[in-house]
Amino acid sequence: MGERQAPGGGGRRLTRRGLLSGGALAAAGAVAGGAAAGAPPASAFPATPATPATPATPATPSPANTPDGGAVVPFHGPHQAGVATPPQAHAVFVAFELRKGVGREALARMMRLLTDDARRLTQGRPALADTEPELAALPARLSVTYGFGPGLFDAAGVDEHRPESVAALPAFKIDKLRREWSGGDLLAQICADDPLTVAHALRMIVKDARAFAEVRWTQRGFRRAAQSQPGGTTQRNVMGQLDGTVNLVPGTPDFDRAVWIEEGRLSGGTTLVLRRIRAEMETWDAADTTAKEFTVGRRLSDGAPLTGRNEHDEPDFDRLTPVGFPVISEYAHIRRAHVADPGLRMLRRVYNYDEGVGADGTADCGLLFAAYQADIARQFLPVQRRLAEADLLNEWTTPIGSAVFAIPPGCGPDGWIGQTLLS
Ligand code: HEM
Repeated sequence: MGERQAPGGGGRRLTRRGLLSGGALAAAGAVAGGAAAGAPPASAFPATPATPATPATPATPSPANTPDGGAVVPFHGPHQAGVATPPQAHAVFVAFELRKGVGREALARMMRLLTDDARRLTQGRPALADTEPELAALPARLSVTYGFGPGLFDAAGVDEHRPESVAALPAFKIDKLRREWSGGDLLAQICADDPLTVAHALRMIVKDARAFAEVRWTQRGFRRAAQSQPGGTTQRNVMGQLDGTVNLVPGTPDFDRAVWIEEGRLSGGTTLVLRRIRAEMETWDAADTTAKEFTVGRRLSDGAPLTGRNEHDEPDFDRLTPVGFPVISEYAHIRRAHVADPGLRMLRRVYNYDEGVGADGTADCGLLFAAYQADIARQFLPVQRRLAEADLLNEWTTPIGSAVFAIPPGCGPDGWIGQTLLS
């Protein structure tokens, strides 16, 4: 649709080009107002200028370029989306600090508002009073997941419902944590296959949270571009490793047992530990392939364990070299991180970050290590303790941020996220 009638405009035709001329600005406001009321779906807005500035795209896209910007992740359900959802290509994690005096009632109001934003935006509809409603038209598998930090439980006076381990993690000797990447009372995890969709959702959510909270930090992450590889392919991280081979599979009983909280007000929810882990690329790049593979216990080329042929072969931790040393070192990352019972594992939903290079060419990149589990004390902490104690990978990685959140359950069409805790 390239044009629409200007409301009250006496039949005057309103085009994008027209909007740019001063006379049509009031009409533009009226159009945006219509969207704000939630009346027309985002797709009702003109998608292309009346006079295209660039050559028209072919009407039938080639199979190699099938647009999927309209793909939608359902919002309603017993669990929030963005946990079991296959990881989208782009993510931003934003943490807020509650303003002084914000208590349970205000938090409930805020969460109603933020739930409404997520409900609309994830389904490709503009948020209320969306100032860039056109940007909502391509949800690109957008998911918005909210998390509550320890401070929110306190502010709401519901501390008795906070799982004990939803608290700052104990200090580990490998940590060089910085406040600018740590803590937070409220989290929004925003993921989509399109970075502009993420930017727009972030903007709307930050604006609506503003009266109640201020931003403490934002962390942006990325994975391989959507459709660059067949679905289910294990991603590579910035260090070049296949990352995510041994992981929980959504829809399996092990996943459900390991990830979802089963009892209490948070039943159907989970917990998130987000660690910002810098990759020391200068020294990592100086290591040779044998050293890199020995460090993790897997081959770089295909992710196979050093004792196997294929990526998903079971590692043989008992196998010895001819001279009697373990093939997979006692200090290899996969040995130290391994948990035998799948129902006691964590879900790793890891993103890369890359904040560019310094003047001397040093990379500022690493992992946004996001782990979800029903119980941090039972599932995350024992692994993190073993890794902090001795993991060859520590030579090349440094945790610089750490934050912990309870992820409340999902909600139905009439509900809101956090209702089980705050109402
Ligand atoms: C920059 C930091 C890290 C890097 C580069 C890294 C990389 C890897 C790689 C390459 C693998 C093998 C492939 C796979 O199964 O996914 C792996 C496995 C694993 N990692 Fe990490 N990791 C990091 C931090 C962590 C942290 C902080 C934890 C938890 C506290 C962790 C837990 C695990 C687990 C549970 C496995 C699967 C082990 C198994 O059962 O085989 N990793 N990681």
